[in-house]
Amino acid sequence: MTTVIRNGTIVTADLTYRADVAIEGGQIIAIGQGLTGETVLDATGCYVMPGGIDPHTHLEMPFMGTYSSDDFDSGTRAALAGGTTMVIDFALPNPGQGLMDALQQWDNKSKRAHCDYSFHMAVTWWGQQVFDEMPKVVERGITSFKHFLAYKGSLMVNDDELFASFKRCAEIGAIPMVHAENGDIVAEMSAKLLAEGNTGPEAHAYSRPSQVEGEATNRAIMIADMAGVPLYVVHTSCEEAHEAIRRARMQGKRVWGEPLIQHLTLDESEYFHPDWDHAARRVMSPPFRAKHHQDSLWAGLASGTLSCVATDHCAFTTEQKRFGLGNFTKIPNGTGGLEDRLPMLWSAGVNTGRITMNEFVAVTSTNIAKIMGMYPKKGAVLVGADADLVVWDPEATKTISASSQQSAIDYNVFEGKEVKGLPRYTLSRGMVAVADGKVQSREGHGQFVARDPNGSVSKALSTWKELTAPRPVVRSGIPASGV
Ligand code: URP
Ligand code: ZN
Ligand code: ZN
Ligand code: ZN
Repeated sequence: MTTVIRNGTIVTADLTYRADVAIEGGQIIAIGQGLTGETVLDATGCYVMPGGIDPHTHLEMPFMGTYSSDDFDSGTRAALAGGTTMVIDFALPNPGQGLMDALQQWDNKSKRAHCDYSFHMAVTWWGQQVFDEMPKVVERGITSFKHFLAYKGSLMVNDDELFASFKRCAEIGAIPMVHAENGDIVAEMSAKLLAEGNTGPEAHAYSRPSQVEGEATNRAIMIADMAGVPLYVVHTSCEEAHEAIRRARMQGKRVWGEPLIQHLTLDESEYFHPDWDHAARRVMSPPFRAKHHQDSLWAGLASGTLSCVATDHCAFTTEQKRFGLGNFTKIPNGTGGLEDRLPMLWSAGVNTGRITMNEFVAVTSTNIAKIMGMYPKKGAVLVGADADLVVWDPEATKTISASSQQSAIDYNVFEGKEVKGLPRYTLSRGMVAVADGKVQSREGHGQFVARDPNGSVSKALSTWKELTAPRPVVRSGIPASGV
């Protein structure tokens, strides 16, 4: 059975052109004019693009005394509804737990996925077992390792552990990632704020200013440079962090920054809202920032100093957020966005002229597939690629509302935003998962995507590191000692 997407305009990271796309067995089998097949999807007036890849989600994650409320069922349904056809979720071992053991738990949870998925592995503690298991994780096709420089007392790792893990990543051709906020400073500022009676959600923002992110981002970049490994910085939210990434890239360092759609479109005024629930629902780390930081992030996407747009989808209900009534440090950190990332970025980015359609595809899909070792299976409109596609109607509009979302939580941080640009069809390996706003995907359809280690950037960097490694100076004679 062949499915053909007809009369659309293909938009990739580098090309825009009119052509039909034929799909069979879950893959693209032909791109050209006048293609035919048993099933025809009309793309008149639409753009045919690689489906979105969200490189940063936390589905059913144990965190801050609870579990995030979107699991692989509701979370991946939300993804597809918004044109995202793959997520990369974080497998998170408890301190002391083995990596392969944690992976088993994520394997079980992800059986419900409606779209394809992969994992990053978090390094939440350091020891011989972690060191030994890292190559096994890579053999399973999980080639990126996340480190938290925040969440002191739970997930945070110290600089010596970070350096050890980065060096191990270099050895095995994996990509280290960081949540870059200085956890020591955040902990101290939080305690002081609480002691002074600053207990509300606004104090969450006061406790982690942009400097803590700028400092930690720069530190992680320098440590990665010394370890001879590339670095992926998650949820880059401010100018200070972007500045560190920009400077590093201009120096030839291999660093990628990932702004979230939330930080691009929402600002810190949300935390000053008179309704406690409104503010607490927006508590995430890093927090939403002053508006000038948004300009910096948009400039980064346009100039190429920032590479990917994610959601960090980590959804908690209002009831869960209320764990932190009277103490902001107990508000579970995280916000949703899986269904809204593409429509919000298109509306706030492409429709306004801040980024081009091709840049949109690059930062939501192609760059991610390339960096994460799965291009062109994912992130491409090419013969042989998986038919993970979105047929995008640039004229379709809606008002975002929790009442019509796939996410299991009771609110949406983008509530009331008007978006223009929505999927007409979303295809997951050729299966029409969404048609005209109706989700018709299947639980369990999603497959694990094994990714390749030792990408060209990792190889180049280790070649250079080896070439420039410190070596003893060979001297012809030993000078006589004494006088
Ligand atoms: O607040 C956030 N970002 N929650 C999810 C965990 C993380 O730090 O990425
Ligand atoms: Zn984080
Ligand atoms: Zn500032
Ligand atoms: Zn996260």
